[in-house]
Order: sequence, then structure tokens, then C-alpha cells
Amino acid sequence: MAPIENTASTTPAFDENKVTVVYVLGGPGAGKGTQCAFLVEDFQFVHLSAGDLLRAEQNREGSQYGELIRNCIREGTIVPMEVTIKLLENAMQDALKEQRAGNAWANGKGRFLIDGFPRKMDQALKFDESVCAASLVIFFSCTQEVMLSRLMERGKTSGREDDNVESIKKRFVTYEDQTKPVIEYYTSINKVAEIDSTPDIDTVHRAASVAINELFAKKAEKSS
Ligand code: C5P
Ligand code: MG
Repeated sequence: MAPIENTASTTPAFDENKVTVVYVLGGPGAGKGTQCAFLVEDFQFVHLSAGDLLRAEQNREGSQYGELIRNCIREGTIVPMEVTIKLLENAMQDALKEQRAGNAWANGKGRFLIDGFPRKMDQALKFDESVCAASLVIFFSCTQEVMLSRLMERGKTSGREDDNVESIKKRFVTYEDQTKPVIEYYTSINKVAEIDSTPDIDTVHRAASVAINELFAKKAEKSS
């Protein structure tokens, strides 16, 4: 990724009437990635995981952000928003350029699930304003107990440097302090669909599909 310029733009890069952005939030281990994979199949979304994009940038040879990202991930803290927003915007640009088949991607339209983002209020406001306003936030909720046991299970095979008890505890603190306010903000403007992600994968998937169907039904109504 090229160095980030200070682009003080106020018009979003993408038109929310054409490009649908759904933020997918929930604590670490809530099931965001698992459920996104289903929604990609059901609704022709492109799935962009902020964490995955950061890990790829961290491992990219010559990246000036590699060390910064590695430290943040290990400590469970949040990478400065400029880095994450630029990675997301670039990935969106690339997906739109591909001109995918199907009505969801015709005539400059597109659908994105932005997973694990925004983790902090500044990211939320900046992305909505300068990249694309989100249409919906899907919030997968479950207890820390459930999340901890899922992450410990995943840690046996994930190879992730942050799937260990010390990092997980720090990630929970960051989630409570920084990400919860983001969910509260979008709740206050009626943009959140909260889904209990404690039950089995199929049950959660059905509930998430209902929320997305409602979103597209509302959008279709608005544009007709
Ligand atoms: O979402 P995921 O669990 O893959 O994120 C891993 C780590 O990446 C987070 O704990 C955090 O350090 C970093 N991250 C971030 N900003 C985001 C998403 C992830 O700093 N929006
Ligand atoms: Mg994930």
C-alpha cells in the first residue's frame, strides 16, 4: 500500500444508493467471519474483514505499517484508522472494478460486508463520511464466556498470534471500551440488527438472512 495522503474529502468515495455497506460487529469470537461466509453466498456480498486485510498488509514485504500492525494485533489495540480505512477503500475499489456478474453488481452497484469494522467511533464517522455511509450494522452478540471458548478452540489451528488467553483478555477490554460505543451510536440512529450468536451456526444464519432481506426490501421500496 502506498503512503497515506491527507485527503480531506467530504463527499464519500462511493454512492450509498449504489453501493450497499453492511458493518458486521460483535466481540472477538462472536462468529462474524463464519456468518459472513454464508451471507456472501446468499446475497452476492463481497466480504472484507478488516482484521484479514491488516494481517495481509502486515505480511506484505516492504509495508511501512507491518511493525505497527503486528504490535496492535498482539496487544489487542486498534490500528490507526487511516491505515484500515485505506485498505478497505482500496479493496472496495478493486471489487467494483472486477465488474462481477449478477444484478447486485450491475451498473456500478455493489454489496459489501465490512467485518470487524468500525471498531472505534472515529473509524465509524470517518468511513461513513469519506468512503460510504453504512446501510446497516449487524451485531452478533454473545457472552465473553462463549467467545473465549470459541477463540481457544480456534487457537488450536488458526496460527493467529492473538488467539491466546493474554491477547484475548486485552481484545475483550478494547471491545468493551471502544467498540461498544460504536454499537450504541448506530443503535441510537436505528441502524442495528442485533442477533444472538450463542445458538448453532444454522440458527444464527437464518436470523442474519432475515435482517439482510429486510434491508434490501427497504432499499427496493425507497428506490421505487
Ligand atoms: O477482527 P479481527 O479479530 O480479525 O481483528 C484482529 C485485530 O486487528 C484486532 O484485535 C485489532 O488489533 C486489529 N483491528 C483493528 N481495527 C479494525 C479491525 C481489526 O485495529 N477495524
Ligand atoms: Mg474475523
